[in-house]
Amino acid sequence: MRIRTLLWGSYLVVVLAALGLMAVLLKAALEDVGEANLQAGEEAVQGVVQANYQISEKVLSQLGEVVVELKALSLARELSLMLAGRELERQNEILEIKVAERTMELALTQDVTIHSLASLAETRDNETGGHILRTQRYVKTLAKKLASNPKYAEALDARTIQLFYKCAPLHDIGKVGVPDAILQKPGKLTDQEFAIMRTHCELGYQALLKAEQLLAAESQLSFLSQAMDIAYTHHEKFNGTGYPRGLAGQDIPLSGRIMAVADVYDALICKRVYKPPFTHEKAVAIISGDAGTHFCPDVVAAFLEVREEFRRIALELADHEEERQALAK
Ligand SMILES: [Fe+2]
Ligand SMILES: [Fe+2]
Repeated sequence: MRIRTLLWGSYLVVVLAALGLMAVLLKAALEDVGEANLQAGEEAVQGVVQANYQISEKVLSQLGEVVVELKALSLARELSLMLAGRELERQNEILEIKVAERTMELALTQDVTIHSLASLAETRDNETGGHILRTQRYVKTLAKKLASNPKYAEALDARTIQLFYKCAPLHDIGKVGVPDAILQKPGKLTDQEFAIMRTHCELGYQALLKAEQLLAAESQLSFLSQAMDIAYTHHEKFNGTGYPRGLAGQDIPLSGRIMAVADVYDALICKRVYKPPFTHEKAVAIISGDAGTHFCPDVVAAFLEVREEFRRIALELADHEEERQALAK
């Protein structure tokens, strides 16, 4: 019984030992397999990561190329816009210079034309060169004052006033066509002679019209219309009793209405073979009294405001001592 027990005991020990050994071996085997699997897994992951990395790098590099191209494109566009802007500026500058040259040319042509015509008128007029200079300055003074009246502000811009000033010396240019016997007569004219003298308005207008047509045909220049208005209408009267057409009120061009006051003031303060020079005060009273009949009331109102300026111009450019003394009174 004891031996049997011993045998069973030994057997059990051996079995247990064998089992223990198997367990150890199994564990070792399992550990080997796991490690191998883990290594394979890591390698696979690394492969995927590596592949992704390469793709990403390729994509990024292509994106980089696109960005560089876009930048270059935008830079090129900016550059071409800048160049186009510069070219436009250059063209504008050239255009401005050409316009300025043309304006200067036009102003010079105007001045030379008007000056030549005025000189021609002066040689035929029994009135002095002083009359032409004085009336020219009265016209400018009057026009500037009238421009401060809102009713005339638009019509009398700086350019128009300057044109009135330039054209004023041509008001009597038609006298070129009046015979010397009448023009130079040292006394009052007869009715018949006066009728001939009156034609100077129409003659002046026609002469300037021909000059204007010639200029327009040759050079598209047109600046004598104001001169034509002045020559044609400076003897019209506001109530319609003037000549040559008997125009009335606003039908008389503004330049003609202004010229009328300037011309008559100067005739009054100048001496003539048939009259002494009137004083400044007397001339002012006559013009003031004729507002609405002979003269445009608005122009007379402006004249009254600048009458002292008229006196200064008359004194500065007076032809005779006698006139200077009358003006000083
Ligand atoms: Fe006249
Ligand atoms: Fe005159």
